[in-house]
Amino acid sequence: MADKQALVIFGATGDLALKMITPSLYFLDMEHHLPDDLIIVGVARSVMDDAAFAAKVRDSVARHAGADFNEEVWSRFAGRLSYCAGDVTDDAPYRKLAERLKDCAIPLCYLSTSPDFFGPIARHLKTSGLVHAETRIAVEKPIGHDLQSSRDIEAALEESFPTDRILRVDHYLGKDTVQNLIALRFANTLFEPLWNKDSIEHVQISVAETVGVERRWSYYDSYGALRDIVQNHMLQLLCLIAMEPPPDLEAESVHAEKVKVLRSLRPIGAAEVERETVRGQYRKGYTESGAVPGYTEETGGGVSDTETFVALRAHIDNWRWAGVPFFLRTGKRLPQRATQIVVQFKPVPHSIFHRTMNVPNRLLIRLQPQEEIALQIMNKTPELEAVRLAPVTLDLNLIDAFRTTRRRIAYERLIFDALKGSAFLFVRRDEVETAWSWIDRIAAGWKERDMRPLPYTAGTWGPSSSFALTERQGYSWVE
Ligand code: BG6
Repeated sequence: MADKQALVIFGATGDLALKMITPSLYFLDMEHHLPDDLIIVGVARSVMDDAAFAAKVRDSVARHAGADFNEEVWSRFAGRLSYCAGDVTDDAPYRKLAERLKDCAIPLCYLSTSPDFFGPIARHLKTSGLVHAETRIAVEKPIGHDLQSSRDIEAALEESFPTDRILRVDHYLGKDTVQNLIALRFANTLFEPLWNKDSIEHVQISVAETVGVERRWSYYDSYGALRDIVQNHMLQLLCLIAMEPPPDLEAESVHAEKVKVLRSLRPIGAAEVERETVRGQYRKGYTESGAVPGYTEETGGGVSDTETFVALRAHIDNWRWAGVPFFLRTGKRLPQRATQIVVQFKPVPHSIFHRTMNVPNRLLIRLQPQEEIALQIMNKTPELEAVRLAPVTLDLNLIDAFRTTRRRIAYERLIFDALKGSAFLFVRRDEVETAWSWIDRIAAGWKERDMRPLPYTAGTWGPSSSFALTERQGYSWVE
């Protein structure tokens, strides 16, 4: 009978583990959401002892927590930590782990490593006898580089873990605001009757970042914005906006609706890429932090045809969305950080306000940096002489509404659910694969048409053809 539980983090000294996963665990501990008997073991290649690992984690947690850092919580949390150095493709670290964790049950192994190691780690975990029937393995996006590599990774994982024990992480699904999309759509009667082609003119989904690629160049250069962001985060947002109401909130019900949306995406291939997509790559320029280098001049950079910007027009070929364009735009080194969804409604069918402009309603759902839902409606201005209209915004600022004191890291919710075994916030294998097959066609189209990224200056909204993409239909990007 196991005395304790252990959470094992592979790649524990990497950026993601230090910046997101260990601070999230600290906050879960702070709010008493971790089982009392849980220990946390970090595994990575760097040679260091438990104390050195704990010091690294402390630095990163303290930076993240700022004023929320609490010595008492830290000492409880530090008591859970230990470290095991080793090459994850060798037997040695697993033997050490097996010895150290012989009295522990392992509910979760978190793989914060390159996808190349997912298969080998899963296999070693199984053959070393470390895992039991209840152990879950969490793997980070991107799962592969295309459909085939993602299938290979899944096959390697499934040799050692049943598919329902594999948790595919897309951290956007852990964001409160992203989960709130489901509440907004399915807990209010207001929107559903309007949520279709009859009332909605178009939808925009933007993930704009001010950061560049910087130290992540070698990873990023073999992925690019299409595979790094569109394939996962953006298509997940699109699914939540476009899916049919699921019968309930069971993981399987929601996954099934999301897959239907992905399967209804109209293919964009070689014949369409030039009209429907825009690729860009940033050149040196200025952002709020001052002068910044171009993509190919980043540390470790070089000549490259990888895109750091993508804009595209997607269509969902089903009854609800026939004819409604979904404009997606993401990029690094854009003028502001903003993740948002704009639902643009159709104009009124007949305007009786002849002498004044009638701006159609618009629902803005901002996920980052502030959480905000705003509905733009038309209102009369207060003058006496004539009926004049002006757009006004009904604002529901989520932070004020719930008096949230601290914004949670998306990973807190994901790890909390992973430890409980709930699959709701994770991505099912067929979602990943259906998304890849749509993305692969675009990538192949770019290749066939030799469509290289267009340059844009850092600190601007990407290549000018991205504006043409919306303007061709008489719309413009909402910034
Ligand atoms: C990651 C991407 O998945 O998401 C990064 O690999 C990107 O390139 C990041 O910067 C954005 O996440 P967030 O939560 O800051 O919007």
